[in-house]
Amino acid sequence: MQPTTSDLGLVARVASLTKSYGQSENRVTALADVSIGIRRGEFTAIMGPSGSGKSTLMHIMAGLDSPTSGRVWLGDTEITSLGDTALTVLRRRRVGFVFQSFNLVPTLDILGNIVLPFELDGRKPTTAEGAWIDELVASLGLEDRLTHRPHELSGGQQQRVAIARALGTRPDLVFADEPTGNLDSRTGREVLSLLASASKDYGQSIAMVTHDPIAASYADRILFLADGRVVEDRGPSTPEQISSFMLGMEARA
Ligand SMILES: Nc1ncnc2c1ncn2[C@@H]1O[C@H](COP(=O)(O)OP(=O)(O)OP(=O)(O)O)[C@@H](O)[C@H]1O
Ligand SMILES: [Mg+2]
Repeated sequence: MQPTTSDLGLVARVASLTKSYGQSENRVTALADVSIGIRRGEFTAIMGPSGSGKSTLMHIMAGLDSPTSGRVWLGDTEITSLGDTALTVLRRRRVGFVFQSFNLVPTLDILGNIVLPFELDGRKPTTAEGAWIDELVASLGLEDRLTHRPHELSGGQQQRVAIARALGTRPDLVFADEPTGNLDSRTGREVLSLLASASKDYGQSIAMVTHDPIAASYADRILFLADGRVVEDRGPSTPEQISSFMLGMEARA
């Protein structure tokens, strides 16, 4: 018997993953033979130059995009062979996602956006979940924006709504694509502490794309991508160590 994803201590995994876009001379290889797992309960940062395949990898791991070849597991379920409906249900129950572009629903107010994952799952937050949502809203400073629409909020505030929405159901696994990209440094640190505590205190697994060495220094593990491949997989590192690795990567490129 092959070991399952959970036997390996992982929450998501890809094997020999390749993703190409376009045809013939326009063909772009976004991911080239990537085999990697996200470890249960860990806070993983994903770094690498623009265009190195970070968003593509997260979208495929979350079942939002399909690979050109290779296999993908979300928990112990291989999603590469799953139908759309089953995949949607699995994703809804297990995964939270903070997109680079936020993806808020413009016609819903902020509270409506935050509780949308519950609505889509056909249920209301329990008392405990309601208390957690209140805590998220307070620590993200959104209390006085709950009845506003997304277009009435700044980019940083919209980003915080996307974070509250992703963490609300306490999913096993949260993918966050540059969650601190639009935030000032104080709010950014709050978001990073929130993500770190989601993994430390609640055992959630977090995979976060970032360009910021300070943000990555909050992580238990840092993966570096370059040209669609994982070129480095390291443990906790200081911002200085991360910066010097990034500089070395640019020098080799
Ligand atoms: N829908 C698409 N059609 C064609 N090419 C795409 C598409 N999405 C991504 N690509 C290409 O795949 C490569 C990887 O893109 P990806 O968005 O994963 O990079 P990234 O590491 O997230 O970059 P950034 O840091 O700028 O967000 C890039 O060369 C990009 O142009
Ligand atoms: Mg990206």
